Amino acid sequence: EELDLDIGEIDKNGFPHFMLKEIFEQPRSILDTFRGRVAKDNSEIVLGGLYRVIDDLVQAKRILIVACGTSWHAGQVGEYMIEDLARIPVEVEYGSEFRYRNPVITKDDFVIAISQSGETADTLAAIRMAKEAGARVLGICNVVGSSIPRETDAGVYTHAGPEIGVASTKAFTAQVTVLAMIAMVLGNKRGELSTDDYNELIHDLTEVPAKIEKILQQNEEIKAIAEIYKEATNAIYLGRGYLFPVALEGALKLKEISYIHAEGYPAAEMKHGPIALIDENMPVIVIATKDKSYDKIVSNIQEVKARNGKVIAVVTEGDDTIRNMADHVMEVPESTEMLSALTTVVPLQLLSYHIAVMRGCNVDQPRNLAKSVTVE
Ligand code: G6P
Repeated sequence: EELDLDIGEIDKNGFPHFMLKEIFEQPRSILDTFRGRVAKDNSEIVLGGLYRVIDDLVQAKRILIVACGTSWHAGQVGEYMIEDLARIPVEVEYGSEFRYRNPVITKDDFVIAISQSGETADTLAAIRMAKEAGARVLGICNVVGSSIPRETDAGVYTHAGPEIGVASTKAFTAQVTVLAMIAMVLGNKRGELSTDDYNELIHDLTEVPAKIEKILQQNEEIKAIAEIYKEATNAIYLGRGYLFPVALEGALKLKEISYIHAEGYPAAEMKHGPIALIDENMPVIVIATKDKSYDKIVSNIQEVKARNGKVIAVVTEGDDTIRNMADHVMEVPESTEMLSALTTVVPLQLLSYHIAVMRGCNVDQPRNLAKSVTVE
C-alpha cells in the first residue's frame, strides 16, 4: 500500500492548519522560552543575551520599544510590565511612525526591538536610527540569524520554534514571556522588586504552560461559541490594564483571518465612541479576569447588556457573577495580573481560528497579508 501523505500534512502534526497547531504548541513554546533561563530553584532569571548591555539597561533613563503588528501588542504588555516592576519610563512605538516622525532619542535611551521574523523593514529602519543617535539596542526575535539580531547590540531570542501561520500566535506569547523575564530582572537589579516577589513571579511564570493546557481543553466549547457568531460583521474587544493590549491582539486576530471588522479598546473608552455601535447583533468580547479593575469591568459588561449587546467574556475560573450576566464565558485559570496576557489571549486565538474556518477563509495564508513585511 502506498503512503499517501504530503509533507505539508506531516508538518502540521495532525492538525488541519498550522495556526491551530501553533496555538496548541504554546504550553511547550513558552516553556522552551523560559527553560534554561530560570535557575533551578526558581530564585533567579539568567538571560545570557543581556550580558553585554545589562548595565546600560538598568541605568536607562527611558526604554523605547519599537515593533509592528502583533509584536507591537507584545510591546504594549512589556511597557506595563517594565514600568510596574522596574519603574523605568517606557514608550512603545510603531517602527513606521518612529522612523518618519523626527523622534527625540539620545544615548541615555535604551531601545528594545521586537520582531518574530527579525526582518520587518520598518522595525529595522527604526533600529538603525536609534543606533545613529547613540542608543543601545536589544532585539527580541524568533528567527535565529535574521537581520535584526545581526544589527542589534544584544538580543534575547524567543524559542517559539518556526511559526508558519501568517497570524502570529505562539510568537506573541513567547515575546510576552521574554518581556516578563526582562521586567523581573530589571525590577530585581534596580531594587524595586523584593526578593520574595521576584521569586514568586518566577514561580508564577513556570505555572503558565499548565494553565494554557487547561484553556486548550475548552476548544470544543469555544468552537460552539464561534458557530453562533460566525456571521457577525463587526466585533469589539474590551480590556483594561494588562488586558487592553490583549483586546487589541484579539481584535487583530479576528480581522486578519476572518475578515470581520473588529476593534480593540480600553474598556473605559467604550463610552467615548464605540458604545454607539452596540446593538443585539454585535458581539462584545470582554476580557474580565479577576484583577484590580474587576469591579469596573463588571460595570462595563452591565453597560453593554443594558444596550442589548451580546457579551462573550473571558473570566477567571469559577466566576459566577459574570457567568450570570454574560451570554457566554471562556474560562482561564487564576493568574497573577502581570502574566494574565499569556493566558487570556489563548481563548481569543481559538475563537478567531474557528470563526475563520467556519467562514471558509484561508487561515494560514489570509488574503493580502504576508508573514514578514520586508518592504515599507
Ligand atoms: C506582519 C505579520 C504579523 C506580524 C507583523 C510584524 O504583518 O503578518 O503577524 O505581527 O508583520 O512582524 P514581525 O516579524 O516583525 O514580528
